[in-house]
Amino acid sequence: MSRSAHPAGPRHADVLPEGHYTAPAEDLNALDPKVWAHTVGRDADGVVTVGGITVTQLAEEYGTPAYILDEADFRDRARAWRTAFGTDADVFYAGKAFLSRAVVRWLDEEGLNLDVCSGGELATALAAGMPAERIAFHGNNKSPEEIERAVRAGVGRIVLDSFQEIVRVAHLAQSLGKRQRVQIRITVGVEAHTHEFIATAHEDQKFGIPLAGGQAAEAVRRALQLDGLEVIGIHSHIGSQIFDMSGFEVAAHRVVGLLKDIRDEHGVELPEIDLGGGLGIAYTSDDDPREPHEIAKALTEIVTRECESARLATPRISVEPGRAIVGPTAFTLYEVGTVKPLDGLRTYVSVDGGMSDNIRTALYDAEYSVALVSRTSDAEPMLVRVVGKHCESGDIVVKDAFLPGDLAPGDLLAVPATGAYCRSMASNYNHVLRPPVVSVRDGAARVIVRRETEEDLLRLDVG
Ligand code: LLP
Repeated sequence: MSRSAHPAGPRHADVLPEGHYTAPAEDLNALDPKVWAHTVGRDADGVVTVGGITVTQLAEEYGTPAYILDEADFRDRARAWRTAFGTDADVFYAGKAFLSRAVVRWLDEEGLNLDVCSGGELATALAAGMPAERIAFHGNNKSPEEIERAVRAGVGRIVLDSFQEIVRVAHLAQSLGKRQRVQIRITVGVEAHTHEFIATAHEDQKFGIPLAGGQAAEAVRRALQLDGLEVIGIHSHIGSQIFDMSGFEVAAHRVVGLLKDIRDEHGVELPEIDLGGGLGIAYTSDDDPREPHEIAKALTEIVTRECESARLATPRISVEPGRAIVGPTAFTLYEVGTVKPLDGLRTYVSVDGGMSDNIRTALYDAEYSVALVSRTSDAEPMLVRVVGKHCESGDIVVKDAFLPGDLAPGDLLAVPATGAYCRSMASNYNHVLRPPVVSVRDGAARVIVRRETEEDLLRLDVG
């Protein structure tokens, strides 16, 4: 996740610690549309607005920190994926990125399907009225209760992740007098170019059944023999925050190779393949993500070509983008509490949230951008580290950024592209309360996930 090196910054140019820094934007007041939600801009007073509402109004009404989600942008991106893949393919939004009942309803209305990976996500999807046949159920260790709930609800597919699970799901479905549609998740042995913790197609990790050594073929062999299962396809997810399509190309090649082997051995052409999610988004101006229509075209061409050369009918493709839909649609709004210049080093800016609302910087060394949003400023840029309020020095929200040198307590900062894996990975560390998710659209705001309260904390602590 390295960046181009331009250690510039007039104030601290001689003291930049070693590393790569994005040069301060010519104008720190500019908002790069690549990293901000579609409806974000500044009003005549220089205050940032989203969905027609100023961040100062939002902070006053809902408090800080808060995740502010642009509903129109979410719907646009969901629709762009849907349209790009057309009616011959399915788009399953990966709920792990961020899930709430409002989001499920938007997805339903925009014609997307939903990938869930726990009983809790399944319960949210069903509570919001997502038709069960449009739900895919994932996970490397689904409990028998979760499997039973999914089978009873009639989910469209369960993605099987191990030999034990093949048997478990088959028996459960059979005992309920059902035949469950399943895909088998395989690992194709691709080294995805992303952080180690979010790469999932190399063999030495917990997900899927390795293609290597004939294990995936053996899994299919066993699954095809079980009455409780209807094997509809093969699943591969190579990792997350990936920009380079070559990993998908290799994955598609290997998945189609397995389909061909299955056809040759069993005389069955499995009708579907799922290439997972993982498409990268812009966290900073240096990231250049592909558009959904480019991705759809590339994936469809790869699969079609591979199937033609294997003389297979092209299977129905599905994909599971999470981050690429919700990530760019939200920013986290914080209030500055303290500004602490450390001579010869940098300035530490403390905000009223931190690693409990965004663990990604601490966990993956993720890079984020940040902007002063409650006003504009012409002050000289200063090199800052935006940190949270937790009792831990690794509590960093934005590791290296430039902000105006006149930044002061009470200013509002926003960190863009926090729609994915921030609220969904939020914690109560230090008993800090998880922020609300406020959605905005056409000049109206509403809370879709409310702020946690001290009563919520105490309710769980049964004394
Ligand atoms: N499908 C499967 C089977 C997955 O495991 C995942 C993500 C997705 C789809 C969606 O991937 P996306 O399009 O959102 O990249 N917490 C990490 C990401 C973990 C992703 C886990 N699986 C992060 O904050 O970067």
